[in-house]
Amino acid sequence: MLLVKNIGQVLTLRGGSAPRRGSEMRELGIIENGAILIRAERIEWVGPTKDLPVRMPDERDEVIDGVGLELTAFPGFVDSHTHPIFAGTRADEFDLRCQGKSYQEIAAAGGGIRASVRQLRAATPEQLVSRAEKNFYRFLRHGTTTIEAKSGYGLSMEDELKILRAIAALKTRSRLEIFPTFLGAHDIPDEFRGARGEYIRKLVEEMIPAVAREGLAHFCDVFCDTGYFTVEEARAVLQAAREAGLGLRVHADQLSHSGGTRLAAELKALSADHLEKIDAEDIRALQSAGTVATLLPGSVFQLGLPEYPPARALIDAGVPVALATDFNPGSSYTLNMQIILSIACSRMKMTPAEAITAATINGACALGAADRLGSIEEGKQADIVLMDVGDYREVPYFFGVNHCVVTIKKGNIVINRLEAA
Ligand code: NIG
Ligand code: FE
Repeated sequence: MLLVKNIGQVLTLRGGSAPRRGSEMRELGIIENGAILIRAERIEWVGPTKDLPVRMPDERDEVIDGVGLELTAFPGFVDSHTHPIFAGTRADEFDLRCQGKSYQEIAAAGGGIRASVRQLRAATPEQLVSRAEKNFYRFLRHGTTTIEAKSGYGLSMEDELKILRAIAALKTRSRLEIFPTFLGAHDIPDEFRGARGEYIRKLVEEMIPAVAREGLAHFCDVFCDTGYFTVEEARAVLQAAREAGLGLRVHADQLSHSGGTRLAAELKALSADHLEKIDAEDIRALQSAGTVATLLPGSVFQLGLPEYPPARALIDAGVPVALATDFNPGSSYTLNMQIILSIACSRMKMTPAEAITAATINGACALGAADRLGSIEEGKQADIVLMDVGDYREVPYFFGVNHCVVTIKKGNIVINRLEAA
């Protein structure tokens, strides 16, 4: 048993497993001076500390008592879009972008995703696992308890399987929970540049069935954009994925208005991600499809682009909005969801409450896992983080600082910086 008590604000996000839309995104279900009782992996009780059920203390019980401290409890962040398996950084590209080069110019000159592919193919599985393991620990330290993790820097059967098997190995080595996604359609690899059709055929007929057969991925994603995969190519890949039993996600309308969002809605994908270039009709399509709009403002920020996705219009139209880091060495090199909240609030005019909903329960919906994750409610998995703030709004407001002092995953305290303080 683990008891957490005297917490100034407990953000329960109560409301079950449905995605939060419109004004629901502003309802955090806050309990003042709250307590949470955890038994094994689950939340047994949550409410005001003064109403704690009376029970005899047991010497095996662990207690975190926030009395005299300023603490706020959040559901652990659910980061529903990351590319965490890579073999090296691309600081050289960052430097070039600081000098005015665009992401597309760098990619056209042989950099970008293809640079990460070259690095990854040369790496051993052990190297991939050890780099990722460090980053997975960093996710936990910053309050993220679940991530979606994409492949996509291998782009051959052998190298994509190498990534997905590394993720499978990490599942047993890290406390972070991982939902793997096959992103073989991230770019056309160099050896198929003159034969795109042949690469699509390989994805559809060989790679997707192999990934599904080995049970290595929950989802399949496609980078549907100008210079990457067309709508027709993306549709072929996603249909094959659906037949193989994988859930669908799409990198849509990031660089240009190219039809990915409409495709995601047509296929009733779980999530359409990025959405920088969408229009009113795309928003209507998402509205009726029930697809989650996953916004990744870290990539807009890091690429130094002027236009953020239209978060306000999406929320006001009743589309469930999620926020994620897009952690990757090219366009968004952060794994800190707190920074994403800050950017979402100041650049996309989301309120702090909307941003927190987007980063927790709606992220869980984007993974089809909101029955278990994303809120602090009785019966749910005990994934809870404590932030050292007295008012939840300070997390996005006091930006660039890691406020997370305790991370609880499946009922276990996996990070505790309270003792050091
Ligand atoms: O989500 N847009 C496609 N994929 C990544 C970038 C990947 C990379 O540059 O390595 C993204 O921004
Ligand atoms: Fe991405």
